Amino acid sequence: MSEEQPFKGESTRAIHDGEERDKFARSLTNPIAQTATFVFTDLDEFADYKAGKLKHYEYGRYGNPTVHAAERKLAALEGGEEALLFPSGMSAVTSVLLAMLRQGQHVVFMEDCYRRTVQFCKLIQKFGVESTAVPPGDWKALEAAVRPSTRILFAESPTNPHLRVVDLERLVLFAKKRRLKVLIDSTFATPVNQRPLEYGVDLVIHSATKYLGGHNDLLAGSVCGGKDLVWAIKDFRNIIGSMVDPQSAYLLIRGLKTLGLRIERQNKTALSLARYVEEHPKIEKVYYPGLPSHPDHGVALRQLRGFGGVVSFEVAGDLERTRAFVHALRLPYLAPSLGGVESLVSHPATISYYDLSAEDRQAIGIKDQLVRYSVGIEDEGELIADLEQALAGV
Ligand SMILES: Cc1ncc(COP(=O)(O)O)c(C=O)c1O
Repeated sequence: MSEEQPFKGESTRAIHDGEERDKFARSLTNPIAQTATFVFTDLDEFADYKAGKLKHYEYGRYGNPTVHAAERKLAALEGGEEALLFPSGMSAVTSVLLAMLRQGQHVVFMEDCYRRTVQFCKLIQKFGVESTAVPPGDWKALEAAVRPSTRILFAESPTNPHLRVVDLERLVLFAKKRRLKVLIDSTFATPVNQRPLEYGVDLVIHSATKYLGGHNDLLAGSVCGGKDLVWAIKDFRNIIGSMVDPQSAYLLIRGLKTLGLRIERQNKTALSLARYVEEHPKIEKVYYPGLPSHPDHGVALRQLRGFGGVVSFEVAGDLERTRAFVHALRLPYLAPSLGGVESLVSHPATISYYDLSAEDRQAIGIKDQLVRYSVGIEDEGELIADLEQALAGV
């Protein structure tokens, strides 16, 4: 329902795409259509709408103009035909997998995916869908995991919290030969750093709660890709009712307008911060794809336009030293999210993997000394000075 813009520049499209030029009451910003349903003048109008002769909204669970504007804007940024929003990133992940898979079929997923995604890929077995986890970058394991019943390869890139980068060119080639669909959770990259659809990926998923929203004030998820796949998922969304609310869609529209500026800044600050901690004697190991020490630096150089705003690192010493360091930080908030304008710090062993035994955490690389730092848009010098004072104290 929006007029597509003739302009191609990413920043221009982030501002204007998905929105009508002439909005309700001549307002400049896109209004929030806070309504549960939409009105028809008579039954003929409803029949015309159902026959596809009339563009109209019907009921809030099926679509809403504010949500639709956000979806169009996101599709433009991601370079996809269609996008859909969901009430959270996990709602997008679970809805897409449930919509696309049926009993007896099989999904292969990378074991370094977001923990709840990994849990869902196991939970889905109770509906008769089979699943196999493979380590990131292990092509032999991937080859061995594929079965005649495999339909989907699900990966995240870069991953959380080790920032592994998947070689999308190779993954898509692998998948096409075997007629598999490739789904990428691109939350950490955002369309500014990578557009997976350009590599032939079938669907790109986001926790829009993170960088796309960018202000730590909304929960949403998205999926974007070709219209046939996306429309089938939309039919499924209509049934299960996982529709985002118009307020969050409005906030997402606002966030998307500054995505390019924020990511540019976060890429730059995170690289400086990663270089700083790598040189620091009290830091044992750094995980950042922009550093030559990262196992996927080569792929990152080839396929990412920026290395992202999250830096993970291990403090030299033990849990107590790491806790002391985290508690001594003054600028970042201690909170379980990432991607917003406020810097956030997380301690995966305590926050996301608290329920695993030390041995199980060790097996998946979640050491007690691991810290995940999501860089906001504060001044770079002050973020580094804050790290310096916190490290000096441990
Ligand atoms: C990579 C990734 N995907 C999906 C999710 C889930 O998103 P949400 O919290 O919006 O449900 C997260 C949350 O941290 C994430 O980091």
